[in-house]
Amino acid sequence: MPLITFEGIDGCGKSTQILMLKDYFEKRKLKCSVFREPGGTVIGEKIRDILLDNQNSIMDPKAEFLLLVASRAQLVHEHIKPRLELGEFVIVDRYIDSSVAYQGFGRGLGKKIVTFINEFATELVYPDLTFYLEIDEKTFEMRRKEKRDRIESEGIEFIRKVMEGYSEISSSKRFVKIDARVDQNQIFVAIIKEIERRFNL
Ligand SMILES: Nc1ncnc2c1ncn2[C@@H]1O[C@H](COP(=O)(O)OP(=O)(O)O)[C@@H](O)[C@H]1O
Ligand SMILES: [Mg+2]
Repeated sequence: MPLITFEGIDGCGKSTQILMLKDYFEKRKLKCSVFREPGGTVIGEKIRDILLDNQNSIMDPKAEFLLLVASRAQLVHEHIKPRLELGEFVIVDRYIDSSVAYQGFGRGLGKKIVTFINEFATELVYPDLTFYLEIDEKTFEMRRKEKRDRIESEGIEFIRKVMEGYSEISSSKRFVKIDARVDQNQIFVAIIKEIERRFNL
């Protein structure tokens, strides 16, 4: 039944922690599937290519958002819902909250419309637990990749708005905010502690 999502700006360590968590579940013979957004399905990966293509610099923020939720709707329909119904753990690298932070706050579309369309696309499939891996600007600059996609190429002003968005939404009960500036093993210990507590593992 549990859906666990990872959120945070680029370089905060989502992919690193998800790899470690998948390994943790596998060692305990617990079935778990990992997906990423945008993408995770054949249709979604095609949408991802459009979204992240540096050539598409003229993309309207509404078009960006609607493409993202199209990918999300497909992922929920094709993979997330069926697996949750089988009682498996599902881990997603970015989900509804990324749209609130990036499109709602970053692009300025607003939290309300983003939440409304998110709920339509996901049929109200909310995460049971969301890890928000928080880093500061300095850490962000340090871990930033050389080769960046269209969204990663945005300037620091945009990232600041995204961080503001995350900090506003991450106070709700579903979120666990983790200081992700520290060593990856230290972050992982905090993640496992929370998972074992919440799901009685
Ligand atoms: N806790 C950490 N401390 C230092 N470097 C890290 C840590 N976690 C991840 N990294 C490194 O930072 C970069 C971004 O990590 P990644 O897991 O890909 O982040 P994300 O998926 O959130 O963009 C990678 O080079 C990774 O090896
Ligand atoms: Mg990643």
